[in-house]
Order: sequence, then structure tokens, then C-alpha cells
Amino acid sequence: MRSLQQHTKFWLWILLVVSASVIRGQEGSDASKIVLNDGNPMPQVGLGVALTADKTYEAVSHALDLGYRLIDTAAEESYGNEDQVGKAVSDYYQQNHLSEKVFITTKLWDADHGFGNTIRAFWRSYRELNKFVATNTTTKSSNIPIDLYLVHSPYGGRLVETWDALLWLQKHHSDKVTSIGVSNFGIEHLEVLRVAGRPMPVVNQIEMHPLVYQQRRDLLDYCHKHHIQIQAFGSLMHGYPHFLDDPPPVLRAITERYNPDGKERYRVHNKDNEKTAATVTVVHVLLQWALQHDFAIIPKSSKPKRITENVRYIPLKPATATSPADFVLSESDMKLLDEWGDHVPYEDRNIYKTDWNWNPIDEAPIHRGNTQYWPDYKGIGLEEQYDLDRLIQKLPMYSLDENEYWDEYWENGEHLEYHSGGDDDDDHMYRSEYDDDDENHHGYDEEDWRNGEIDYVEEDEDLNEEL
Ligand SMILES: NC(=O)c1ccc[n+]([C@@H]2O[C@H](COP(=O)([O-])OP(=O)(O)OC[C@H]3O[C@@H](n4cnc5c(N)ncnc54)[C@H](OP(=O)(O)O)[C@@H]3O)[C@@H](O)[C@H]2O)c1
Repeated sequence: MRSLQQHTKFWLWILLVVSASVIRGQEGSDASKIVLNDGNPMPQVGLGVALTADKTYEAVSHALDLGYRLIDTAAEESYGNEDQVGKAVSDYYQQNHLSEKVFITTKLWDADHGFGNTIRAFWRSYRELNKFVATNTTTKSSNIPIDLYLVHSPYGGRLVETWDALLWLQKHHSDKVTSIGVSNFGIEHLEVLRVAGRPMPVVNQIEMHPLVYQQRRDLLDYCHKHHIQIQAFGSLMHGYPHFLDDPPPVLRAITERYNPDGKERYRVHNKDNEKTAATVTVVHVLLQWALQHDFAIIPKSSKPKRITENVRYIPLKPATATSPADFVLSESDMKLLDEWGDHVPYEDRNIYKTDWNWNPIDEAPIHRGNTQYWPDYKGIGLEEQYDLDRLIQKLPMYSLDENEYWDEYWENGEHLEYHSGGDDDDDHMYRSEYDDDDENHHGYDEEDWRNGEIDYVEEDEDLNEEL
């Protein structure tokens, strides 16, 4: 008997050792991945494809060849290339018998906030991604799922209501959407979700580079506390030459330190406007800064040479000779970069504000939407943190049958008409407001909103009464 026990112990021990080494091996191949708070691994580095237009297919294919395993796109109204991303990824799977999954992020556009609108917009995105997709030999599935679906910004309002739709999609269509998150949310916007008792997003994609680092420290701390991964956009300062080709002194000095063989080698281009070879450039310093802060990054380029150059020092795939990870910023240089923004006037730090008047984190009003009034979830146990089925019963005007939307999608050519889902009046109520040129869907003046003259929106009184 005793020897049987010892025997069993011995084999259990062997099993433990073998499984530990298998797990370690897997971890090894996942070294460039971050595990999100919902347990899903996400590559830390990806390719952003905002407005890459007809260069999208080539850019994505090239990036996949190099080992990029995350592509960040957004709804058709916004980037206009989900279909090309899907096609490039699908073709790549086919041609390379790729066993590794490519992680795809897309986003819900502001005009589609609201429960039913969000569900419909999701199907549109999913359909766009899969428009040109053939049956996949690796996954044996003909469809490419959305690995991360983000609310593009809080400008669209109806925060809890929209978030509820993402939770519903994640729960009922887990084969089509894995993780859900937000983008451009400030603490106030995230607090709306937390106070409403909803499970929190696992990612917040925000403008993040050294110039805005200090002003966003509170948001970074908040996200850290709530296990929300920061994914940075604007890491390359939006490609502005006055940062990359003719960098400010602090950035220039730091970059020079990593180029021992001489000055003037830090620039993204040399005098003949050609890429300098084998050099640590400003681009590398900026990306490395983000990585050392544990941000995920999605630098954008539509040009294959730049897509290659940008990840020169980043180990996209461990054990690849082309990505020597031998470039690390010193603590003192990290500190210099962290504090760079303190010496720049506030209005010059946020690049997207200057360029596109886009700073939702600080400026988007708070509008909770309809479903925030549903029962408080705080008392509900972990297993049922959110009982969305119960919620949905209370939203009879929305039909959530995917086929209905898909059929319509095809019937109407490429564009879904917004009249399905039951009670036309209610549905129309949300949509018709978008058609008004002067007012956005919250019913207040677009210009005032953009000018920051409205910073808080009272709840919709009609909806309050309705409930
Ligand atoms: N959630 C949001 O609200 C939001 C907002 C903006 C962006 N994003 C996402 O973030 C991604 C990143 O885009 P971004 O706008 O933030 O810009 P970024 O990555 O900071 O910079 C991209 C710009 O830099 C240029 N560039 C790239 N590599 C370069 C190099 N090695 N040398 C010189 N120039 C270079 C690109 O031009 P070329 O293309 O001509 O190479 C492009 O104009 C987007 O694609 C998108 O996926 C999200």
C-alpha cells in the first residue's frame, strides 16, 4: 500500500514537472503578450491602421510577415478599412498556415451609441471584417472574430447603456467578441460604469506619449487600480516632423545617448531624406519609453519600410534574430521623458487637440443613457454580476437577432438602414436626432459641445419619466 502511494506520488511529481515546463514553454512564446483582466492575452505591440486607405492590405500583410500579431482598426465610418484588415489577415492565415491567432481590435463609432444601435454597429463591423474572408484552414472557421471591441470615445454619450450592449455581446456571442474595452475615457467616464455596478473595461486606449504623461497620471493610476490596460495611441507624436525629424532638445539629447557613433544619427531621416540605417532614432526612443511603462502600443504607418523600422528593437516574436531587444532606456532618461511635458504649455501637449480638436478624456460630457436606471447590480453575486437577459426583456423595442440585421445588411447593399428591431418610433427617436445638422444625438448644440461650453449633460428627462 505504502509503495503504491509512493509510486503515485512519484508520477504526480513527474506530471507536475512536465506540465510546469510546458506552461513555461507557452509563456516563452507569449513573452510579448499582456494578459488582460478577463484572462485573454493581448499582444503588447500592434499596427494601427487609421486612415491607411488603399494601403491597408499591403501594410497589414507586411506587418504580419514581420511578426506583428495585433491590428487596430475601427468602424467603417471612422477608419474605413475593416474589410481590408479582415482580408489581409484571412489571406495570411491561408497562405502561411498560421497557427498563431492574429488579435483584431475594432471600435464602436460615436454616432452608434445606445443599446440597439451598438448591437447593430457591432454586426456591421463583424460583417465588414468578414466580407472577404474564406474558410480558414487554421481555425476551421470561416469567420474572424473581434478580439477586442472598444467604445471609441465617450463623445457618443449613453455610457452605461452602450457599455451594457458590449457586455451583452460578450456574453451571448463570445465566439465573435472576446474582450471589451473603451477608448478615450477619463476617470469620470470610467466612474460612471463603476458606480453603475458594471464590470469594468479591460482596456482603455488613450493618447499617451511623454508630453501628456504627467497630466494623465491620475488616469493611469485609476486604470492601474482597476486592472485596466492602457493602450497608447499617438506614440509617434502623430508623425509630426518637428518631433521626429527635428526633435526638441530633450528628445534629441536622449536619442543621441543611444547612438555612440555620432550625432545627427537620431533623426528619422538623414539630410537626403533617407532612413538612417542601424540607428536608434527618435521613433525607437518614444516606443521604448511606452513599453518600459508597460503600455501596449499601436504605432501606425502605411509604409512597409517604416513598419519594419519601427519595431527594429522590439521582440515581436521571441527568438527572432531580426528583433534584438538590446535597447533599454536608463532610469534617468525615462524620468527626463516623463517630465518633459511639465516644460511645455498645457495647450501644446495634447497633439490630437491641436490637430483634430479631439480630447474626449478631458472634454467629453457625461451622459449615462437609458439602462443606468435598471436595477442596481451591486447586490448580485459574482457569477451573475450583470443579468443582462433581465435587462433586455425590458428593452422590447430592440430585436437582437443577428440574422435580422445581417439580412438587412445585404438587402440594403453595404449599408444597414436603421429601422429594424421592433418599435419603429423608439428606434427612430434615436436615429432621427443624428440626422439633424445642428444638433448631435444628445440634443444640444454641436458647436457648444466642441468648444467645451457644455461639460456636463443632464439626464434625459423623458427617459427618466419613461422609467
Ligand atoms: N482611439 C482613438 O481615438 C485613436 C486616435 C488616433 C489613433 N488611434 C490608433 O492609433 C494608431 C496610431 O496612430 P496615431 O494617429 O496615433 O499616430 P502615431 O502612431 O503616433 O503616428 C503615425 C504617423 O507617424 C508616421 N510614421 C510612422 N512611422 C514613422 C517613421 N518611422 N518615421 C516617420 N514617420 C512615421 C505615419 O506616417 P505614414 O503612415 O505615412 O508612415 C503617421 O502619419 C492609429 O492607427 C489608430 O489605430 C486611435
